[in-house]
Amino acid sequence: MTTYAVTGATGGLGHRAVEELLDRGVPAADVVAVVRRPEAAADLADRGVQVRHGDYSRADSLPAALAGVDRLLLVSGSEPGQRVAQHAAVIEAAAAGGVRRIVYTSIAQAGTSGNPLAPDHRGTEEVLRGSGVPATILRNSWYAENYTERLAQYLETGEILGAAGSGRVSGALRADFAVAAAAALLADDQGNVVYELGGPAFSFDELASTISEVTGKTVVYRDLPPSEYLAVLQRIGLDEATAEFVVAIDASIAAGDLETDSDDLAQLGRKPTPLAEIFLTALAGLDS
Ligand SMILES: NC(=O)c1ccc[n+]([C@@H]2O[C@H](COP(=O)([O-])OP(=O)(O)OC[C@H]3O[C@@H](n4cnc5c(N)ncnc54)[C@H](OP(=O)(O)O)[C@@H]3O)[C@@H](O)[C@H]2O)c1
Repeated sequence: MTTYAVTGATGGLGHRAVEELLDRGVPAADVVAVVRRPEAAADLADRGVQVRHGDYSRADSLPAALAGVDRLLLVSGSEPGQRVAQHAAVIEAAAAGGVRRIVYTSIAQAGTSGNPLAPDHRGTEEVLRGSGVPATILRNSWYAENYTERLAQYLETGEILGAAGSGRVSGALRADFAVAAAAALLADDQGNVVYELGGPAFSFDELASTISEVTGKTVVYRDLPPSEYLAVLQRIGLDEATAEFVVAIDASIAAGDLETDSDDLAQLGRKPTPLAEIFLTALAGLDS
């Protein structure tokens, strides 16, 4: 019997990964959902999953959360800047508790990426390499939801604003990344493994034309110089630090940091959902 643990199981990716494990026939009793708010995982407990309290910021909560676990999916946390220390606490507890593999959700091209979120992932990958626990690194590109959740705004304004130039994003649905994460947890990989995960790459011009085709309403991409984009973001209410963060993300997209031509996502999990199909579903959601 192998016991699988998934952290972040109250979040979008972790919850879907737990469901995928169950769908693939893993007995619910062999699945541990490690969460900081057990009450938010009641649906998983109802299905027979072991729900345990574990908070990345409370090292004392982690040994019991990971007791008896063989393979761990460590879903990256949501507090940028604190995550290396948080993840290191989980990795340390996992190593001490005898976990035999850790699967970690990193970022595309983590080793070299200029994305402002990349240092946390680079740091975590380094901790993993030093931990002695065999690791599977899932270098995820962007969630397509980063764009579908702005569909109403794109349709209202008729434009997508940014400073990403002709940079491309290998976006895919969060659910597609989650399926791959569950598959990586189940795979009998040896040693350290790195997967670059993403869907078919699109530029923001291509994003705009796909949205136009799917919705029948013209949406164009307006590429701005970074300083102008920064000013626009501040004018619409973002504080300076947040606006700089958004502009830095576009600079890293322009540099190709979120683009991959790897087909690891399809190989590991399932064929990524095409962008037009993703937006058709998002449009139906707006209409309902
Ligand atoms: N590639 C992308 O485009 C993209 C976009 C967004 C996020 N991400 C990264 O991918 C991760 C998973 O994505 P997601 O969509 O599932 O994010 P999400 O829905 O925000 O879920 C994050 C999960 O992490 C848990 N968590 C955060 N801090 C924790 C802590 N200190 N201790 C224990 N659990 C903690 C959250 O618990 P609570 O429910 O208690 O908050 C939640 O279950 C994110 O956390 C982030 O690192 C990637």
